[in-house]
Amino acid sequence: MSNSTETFGLTVGTDKGGTGKTTNTMHFSYWVSRHYSNVVNRNLRVLLLDLDYQTNLSQRFNVYATEHTAAGIFNPHYGDVKIVKVREHIDLVPGSVFMSAINKEIDSEPNKLWLIYNWIKENVNPDAYDFIIYDTHPDFENTIQAALLASDNILIPIEQDEDSQGGADTILINIKNLKQKMYNHKYGVSEVTVKPILLANKMHHNTKLSRELKAKIGEVENLLAYVPFRTVFDTAQKMKMTVWEYYEAYPKLLDSSAKKFLQELDTAYQTVFDAITDGQL
Ligand SMILES: Nc1ncnc2c1ncn2[C@@H]1O[C@H](COP(=O)(O)OP(=O)(O)OP(=O)(O)O)[C@@H](O)[C@H]1O
Ligand SMILES: [Mg+2]
Repeated sequence: MSNSTETFGLTVGTDKGGTGKTTNTMHFSYWVSRHYSNVVNRNLRVLLLDLDYQTNLSQRFNVYATEHTAAGIFNPHYGDVKIVKVREHIDLVPGSVFMSAINKEIDSEPNKLWLIYNWIKENVNPDAYDFIIYDTHPDFENTIQAALLASDNILIPIEQDEDSQGGADTILINIKNLKQKMYNHKYGVSEVTVKPILLANKMHHNTKLSRELKAKIGEVENLLAYVPFRTVFDTAQKMKMTVWEYYEAYPKLLDSSAKKFLQELDTAYQTVFDAITDGQL
């Protein structure tokens, strides 16, 4: 058994706002960091990159950085990047309010979509992390395309008030076009190999819509799992915690309904994890 293996790149993204990208980035990374892998005989380690100029992911980890942010990945003019430890086994490259401007600044650069890939190669020890996870802004600008080039998978949170495919239609088409644009004729493959995983988020309990969407899990291509709608996500968020940390802090609130919810969350993330790692971790 080796104690190192490949690092999995995961973009969390979709063109729709507020579907739960940042919430699931935070929670899935925490879930991964608590996962003991029998393949590598240790807990798994995650590096997060906050690529959204709203810097919500950084804020949820109580990081408010004005320098040494992700901006430096795209232009050295913004200063060097410093990786911040936010939890045991979770590090973060803080987000930058300049990320929107950066999308325009790099637009004419021929290697713009390689900037993240190259930065990782030059600055991140491949043995240090098992997952590199990118939280993105709801658009398809240069930074998310660069994240996709560095990723094996994209996790697309969709909401149940959408038709399950409709909620992801635009991003799926954009990815397809990006793969064509980045086709390497010399090697006969695309530089972008990212595989989509759809996650139904904010699933309400026992409504007509939720029943319809649940029935599609496993049926609709790439729709693998669901995360229930729970107000505890918002409550925990205000306290800069994941829902697990929240229940650890307030064990009296961990009633049977909360336990059932945590089980459903665990099932969802285990399914996503298995789809990404395919038994390699
Ligand atoms: N499963 C859920 N149940 C209840 N509330 C949720 C759930 N997932 C996310 N939320 C809440 O929905 C809001 C939006 O979530 P989040 O910020 O993760 O979305 P986002 O896709 O990152 O948004 P943006 O497009 O602005 O980046 C937050 O207040 C969050 O707490
Ligand atoms: Mg977000």
